[in-house]
Amino acid sequence: YDYEVLVIGSANADLTVRVDRRPGPGETVLGTDLVESAGGKGANQAAAAARLGARTALLARVGDDAFGQLLLEAQHAAGTELRHVLVEKGARTGTAMIVVGPDGDNTIVVSPGANARLSPADVRAAREAVAASAVVSLQLEIAPETVRTAVETATESGTRVVLNPSPAPESLDPGLLAAADPLVVNEHEAGLLSGLPDGTPTDQAHALRDRGARSVVITLGAEGALVLDTGAPVHVPGIKVEAVDTTGAGDAFTGALALRLSRGATLENAARFAVRVGAASVTRPGAQPSYPTAEELA
Ligand code: RIB
Ligand code: NA
Repeated sequence: YDYEVLVIGSANADLTVRVDRRPGPGETVLGTDLVESAGGKGANQAAAAARLGARTALLARVGDDAFGQLLLEAQHAAGTELRHVLVEKGARTGTAMIVVGPDGDNTIVVSPGANARLSPADVRAAREAVAASAVVSLQLEIAPETVRTAVETATESGTRVVLNPSPAPESLDPGLLAAADPLVVNEHEAGLLSGLPDGTPTDQAHALRDRGARSVVITLGAEGALVLDTGAPVHVPGIKVEAVDTTGAGDAFTGALALRLSRGATLENAARFAVRVGAASVTRPGAQPSYPTAEELA
């Protein structure tokens, strides 16, 4: 394989402010100084896998502005292959407005910018890279038709698809679900997409598989993850850490999972590793700046 992990997805500059208390509608609160850092669900997954040592490439679009530069530098530093990152003249790089509360929890509004222009044609132009990758990892911060084309291209070439359907749509295209091996969802996404918002993770995982997913991983925050592959569901325990900022923890988890799967790990073992990486990421501020290298993890 040319790449162990090829991520097709979004890249955003994260503009983060911490607050003691979230404002309600019509309210103003003061926060900390603004921090600009590299984010975006796709770029985050790529940075996570690359920092851990995976041969990683990212197919994404950024603008030719300062935020685009910030993202390219962050991927370069992580070790990601950049030839498939398209820099679009006159476009604005995707931007995420992030508010982090006192418990390290976050709320995010994304302005897609150049991400919205990553097209099916961009994916087709990278067909050889898709075929030459062990795993293609996808999320939903780009145009739905682009994600569909990515799934089709990967399926044609027998490349394994890891799908994190985030931000969660109300329902997921059956074609996407059927390709997901695994579908990686958090508790909120599991509730929504399984149709069992009050179900247990085990019931939700079975429902997601009944709806077509080949395998399912539900991330459970501090409680670890639930894995449903061919056998009985397995609960992978969480790791106790002091949460500073959970932004991008799910992306770190998914990037790490994709890396281990690309090297032939079972889904359960990949999830055990990914739980450690996700936990490490929440102990430091930001998304990509918080991702561990293999040495840091050890
Ligand atoms: O999943 C976290 C990410 O969501 C942030 O980095 C932000 O850019 C948004 O895409
Ligand atoms: Na973090």
